[in-house]
Amino acid sequence: MKESQPSAIYLKDYTAPPFLIDKTELSFDLDESTTVVTSRLHMRRNPVFGASTVPLVLDGGPDVKLIGVAMDDYELPQEEYRVVDDQLIITATADSFVLTCETLIEPQNNTRLEGLYRSSSMFCTQCEAEGFRHITYYLDRPDVMSVFTTTIIADETRYPVMLSNGNEVERGKTDEGKTVVVWHDPFPKPAYLFALVAGDLAVKNDVFITQSQREVTLQIFTESHNIDKVDYAMEALKRSMRWDEETYGREYDLDIFMIVAVDDFNMGAMENKGLNIFNSSCLLASPETTTDDAYLRVEAIVAHEYFHNWSGNRVTCRDWFQLSLKEGFTVFRDQTFSADMHSATVKRVEDVSFLRTAQFAEDAGPMAHPVRPASFIEISNFYTLTVYEKGAEIVRMIHTLLGEEKFRAGSDLYFDRHDGQAVTCDDFVAAMQDASGVDLSQFKRWYSQAGTPKLSVTDAFDQALGKYCVTIKQDTPATPGQPTKLPLHIPVRIGLLDANGQSLSSSLDGATSEEHVLHLTDAEQSFEFTGLATRPVPSLLRGFSAPVKLDYNYSSQDLLLLMSSDSDGFNRWSAAQQLAVNELSQLITQAIKGETLAIESQLVHGFKALLADASLDPAMVALVLTLPNQAYLSEISTPIYPAEIKQARVYLKTLLAEALSADFERIYQQHRVTEEYQAVAEDIAHRSLKNVALSYWAEASSERAQQAVFEQFSTADNMTDQFAALSIAVHSQHNQAADMLAAFYEQWKTEPLVVNKWLMLSASQDNANALSIVKGLMAHPAFDLKNPNKVRSVLGGFGQNVAGFHKEDGSGYQFLADQIIVLNKRNPQIASRLCTPLTRWKKLKPELSAKMKSELERILAEDLSKDVYEVITKSLA
Ligand code: ARG
Ligand code: ZN
Repeated sequence: MKESQPSAIYLKDYTAPPFLIDKTELSFDLDESTTVVTSRLHMRRNPVFGASTVPLVLDGGPDVKLIGVAMDDYELPQEEYRVVDDQLIITATADSFVLTCETLIEPQNNTRLEGLYRSSSMFCTQCEAEGFRHITYYLDRPDVMSVFTTTIIADETRYPVMLSNGNEVERGKTDEGKTVVVWHDPFPKPAYLFALVAGDLAVKNDVFITQSQREVTLQIFTESHNIDKVDYAMEALKRSMRWDEETYGREYDLDIFMIVAVDDFNMGAMENKGLNIFNSSCLLASPETTTDDAYLRVEAIVAHEYFHNWSGNRVTCRDWFQLSLKEGFTVFRDQTFSADMHSATVKRVEDVSFLRTAQFAEDAGPMAHPVRPASFIEISNFYTLTVYEKGAEIVRMIHTLLGEEKFRAGSDLYFDRHDGQAVTCDDFVAAMQDASGVDLSQFKRWYSQAGTPKLSVTDAFDQALGKYCVTIKQDTPATPGQPTKLPLHIPVRIGLLDANGQSLSSSLDGATSEEHVLHLTDAEQSFEFTGLATRPVPSLLRGFSAPVKLDYNYSSQDLLLLMSSDSDGFNRWSAAQQLAVNELSQLITQAIKGETLAIESQLVHGFKALLADASLDPAMVALVLTLPNQAYLSEISTPIYPAEIKQARVYLKTLLAEALSADFERIYQQHRVTEEYQAVAEDIAHRSLKNVALSYWAEASSERAQQAVFEQFSTADNMTDQFAALSIAVHSQHNQAADMLAAFYEQWKTEPLVVNKWLMLSASQDNANALSIVKGLMAHPAFDLKNPNKVRSVLGGFGQNVAGFHKEDGSGYQFLADQIIVLNKRNPQIASRLCTPLTRWKKLKPELSAKMKSELERILAEDLSKDVYEVITKSLA
């Protein structure tokens, strides 16, 4: 361990910056060995400090070599500045001055992929959150906003494309014959939105005419072999631009918008002003190489980054505790966009399913934190499902509480009031409240309180008075640092059904309707519905109107009724999931006791009816047929018995497959799409149902099903169907699975994004030798430890491998810990993300829990990056 350990910083300690930077002039002399960065910062003391003598402190990094500093062109002698803990400190400054810094960096040796680095043959940047300090000394905080002018000097033969934010304003040559390009961005921005790209890139051009008839040039850049895969992203970009005009009244502001795809990227994509940089896995798409899911992800991420131009760039965050100000809002915006482009119910089910699986687990574990965290050691660790997904749920609840029109008025006021500013989550809520007149004071607790609230619902019916009473108790469990919780303001959408599944009208507080929104604000509260002739079945939390766990004692009959008849599509899905959870819980208990598994499944009847109803949306049927996954069942279990959960799932799936084999075969045949591949909602829906049906049918002992899997794999003209067949083969222990995996690699070995899918599937194989398979993959020529996508594929796939990762002897945990230790030095962000499965140790069954804990302790004994240190220490606390 290190002598001094990293320490936390706190939201409560926030102070405004003592200095401001009105203009930032950067010059990059790019070179394969040493890159020279020169900055001219036009600085002044921040007037809010009044006359002050505090020194000027600029952030740098261990990889930035300082050559010289000048103030107003006076070269500072050594004794007038010092570098301490990566910070450049200058004691004596005027009230306003130009600071010039010359620094050297080595992008080719930057394995952290933060700051300026190389990916394949190009230079690129990632500056959020604190990457800019790895480029040069700066006030690297989001409340310091500056107008940037960037000069790029490079050899044009190797780097014909040289890009930065804003508009290209000048182009020329140096005396040595290098090319010089100057970019200017008129919009003040924090350094985290800075970007630079240089490389030999192909481009696709397009044009967008804005609502005020301005012409915007659109450009997508990739390495030349990928340029045929950007058409879908370009169309998605234009749809996003139009949607933001129509839905939020937001028009694009520069004359050019550029996107660049890079292969090595820690995250999905980045919203740099006018120059978005994408992980190629989130941008490239072609029918042969890309699945339907991936198409939809490309569209959603293109939209997300584009939407940041207003929610993030024009109005940005005051400090990193406010990260959800831009991320929660922007995720809500991209979710709504996708819902508008495709099926709103399908999108909602997918988003909620993800939230309930992964975010709820985070909120119940050692890294639990409020949507607006109160402290952190390393901000990179807070790009979390809580900040993004739960943050989006908060905005969605505001939308529910205000209604569409007032929400839009609130958003207009927010953008209007804060354009060009760096603000807080409180400012966002204040705008929503001021524009709508809706009191959001109690609601704001959602930002500061961690943990998933649990709603316990009971009810009573008074036949004589026709009165139905629902009582809801809310309870938020303790989380690290927050032992007690206050009641939240929770919107609960509710409808009532009669015994035939007909929607009932009822009166609540004088309002008569088939649906009501309950405002739960107390720890316990009752709601009285009148005008009911018979006892209703409640459809609770429609559309998942709040990110909570719901406990109501539904009978299987109630659930079957909701599943077949509720007018709310989301709750039809939710009822089926609950029914499956109930049955799986029984089976898991039997497995833990070592009993023979046996169940009288009600789901068989539910599924039978579902498969017989041709009027339903096939995409919804596919979702309803999908059993709760291993991760979700783990999240709702205490303690977690991984092998027994898997056993129960396999048992129930096989039981359903055998009972409904003929139905699944019929559905499989009926939903084959024969037209040429298109990533459009209707076709995606048919493919998803067909492939879910195949996955069941393949679990039944059927020669024909085995044949169908092999045939689909061999003849598919699109990746969705080919990969679905391959996954089914691998997970159903098809006798040709190994050959199919090998053939798939041969077919696609020149397409890295497809190879990544192969790596992930191979690593997730249920096999007694899973660990040696994974070690083999990491030694395979297709693997590359420098590439985050490949690391994520192999280790992510292995994490889902119950037999391999959770092996009783702890060898799976030990292996993951070894990889974390290796990556800790090379790429702290990726290493820290890989720790996630280990943070669940307290919830595992005792034997496994102890083995996992000892791996955390072994990691802690290393010389750790801030990133990994924070996750490991919090996990062990
Ligand atoms: N702002 C980006 C997005 O959500 C994510 C960048 C995250 N970068 C990081 N180093 N954590 O679109
Ligand atoms: Zn974002």
